[in-house]
Amino acid sequence: SQMEPVIIVLFGASGDLSARKVIPALYNLHLDGLLPQQYAIVGVARSSLTEETLRERFRQGVDQYSRRGPAKEQEWDAFAEHLHYIQSNYDEPTLYDRLTKLGDTGWETPPNIVFYLATPPNLFTIVIDQLGRFSELQGDIRYRIVIEKPFGHDLHSAKALNQRLLQVFEEKQIYRIDHYLGKETVQNILAFRFGNAMWEPVWNRNFIDHVQITVSEKIGIGRRGQYYDSAGALRDMIQNHLMQLLCLIAMEAPTEFTADQIRNKKVDVMHAIRAINKADVPAFAVRGQYGQGWMDGQPVQAYRCEKDVDINSNTETFAALKLFVDNWRWQGVPFYLRTGKCMPGRVSEISLQFRPVPHHPFAHLNTQVFQPNRLVLQIEPNEGVVLRTQAKEPGMGMKLKPVDMSYCYQDVFHQASPDAYETLLVDIMRNDPGLFMRADQVEAAWSVIDPILEVWSENTELNFPNYQAGQWGPPEAESLVAQDRRTWLLPISFEPKRGG
Ligand code: BG6
Repeated sequence: SQMEPVIIVLFGASGDLSARKVIPALYNLHLDGLLPQQYAIVGVARSSLTEETLRERFRQGVDQYSRRGPAKEQEWDAFAEHLHYIQSNYDEPTLYDRLTKLGDTGWETPPNIVFYLATPPNLFTIVIDQLGRFSELQGDIRYRIVIEKPFGHDLHSAKALNQRLLQVFEEKQIYRIDHYLGKETVQNILAFRFGNAMWEPVWNRNFIDHVQITVSEKIGIGRRGQYYDSAGALRDMIQNHLMQLLCLIAMEAPTEFTADQIRNKKVDVMHAIRAINKADVPAFAVRGQYGQGWMDGQPVQAYRCEKDVDINSNTETFAALKLFVDNWRWQGVPFYLRTGKCMPGRVSEISLQFRPVPHHPFAHLNTQVFQPNRLVLQIEPNEGVVLRTQAKEPGMGMKLKPVDMSYCYQDVFHQASPDAYETLLVDIMRNDPGLFMRADQVEAAWSVIDPILEVWSENTELNFPNYQAGQWGPPEAESLVAQDRRTWLLPISFEPKRGG
């Protein structure tokens, strides 16, 4: 490959994210020949590990989490040669003297140096401050910094973090990850909207009644109690992933497919989102927390009983929002967002519900079956697109039945989708920031949810838990849409088969 040599410095090398996501992705890139000829991955962490034990740990990560399954002996060995380890405290100046000299490799083309912060967020500024001692980094695109969410805890702290980052690096050197943007089906939203002429005429308030975005997860919070209990669903999922999905659906067409054009159009959307007054928060935002319940015939313990979670925790494990985008295209069209843990299934889906027909001549028909058209972008785990239409059922008389026109990735594409992290890592190495969050995007997203966070933190009189593990959230979530005479749509994969 013609890629420039790279050295990836992986801070937090002994952590979950490195073993679960970053290393398996790099290994797969190695298998696909998508890493440069010359590269090194230098893990940094406080744990006393040897290079051997770190490699072993990474290998287990690949075995367990790679989309391709367990590592193959020879391939792994070839990859593992590039893995190194430095044990150090993050505030140790000599560590950084060493790291900034890594570029002196004697390689024919000097390598790019990527500082990847896969650490808990409380270490971000410590590392950034240390790197700030080296003025030669500033503005030099050979040096990049990758940072994982959470980007702050609210608007105020996000701004502070951005400021800190921008004192040391220029925006073009900063790669803030929202891994949803690396997903194939998420990237496909732009191809679907702007690679086809037929959607644009109907993609607006004249034809679309409302939009629903559901990202439900079956898993609870596993070993992430400490982080999650101080975050909650609104910060963990809505501020970033769901907001980005909304932007992709709502944004105007870019004239060019360039990083900043696309990010500009997305920021426009967020600026157009109607601000929620604090007094209106209850009518626009619902939170929930799961209590004990049953999933797949197994008992599941309440969130408050999870490891590292406060027994009186008021952290939400479910959140639903109603948002309006106040512009010409979307005036009056609600966007309903919901996400949660311990829900009946893992599914990410975006539904555009069209308006009903203005008049239908089949008045004598059972209107139950007369569903308005619905376009569903299936993000995961079933990847595809479904367009629901009405058809005449064969037989005597005019009987209508909903039928789907659809495609699914499995049938139409014969290559496996890369994992989001693979795509993102390649873009970082190629220096293409289009799928990453710019500072103003992050701040605009916080601005949308900040009033909700404020109201929620003030009001702690809650009847938590308010949904059972294994349910679609609390009853209040239903009211949120029912007050508009609408209902949450069951994800397509959950519908009973509508066979003959
Ligand atoms: C992460 C959240 O950003 O996304 C997790 O912190 C969540 O809580 C995860 O489980 C979901 O990602 P995916 O790719 O499995 O949908």
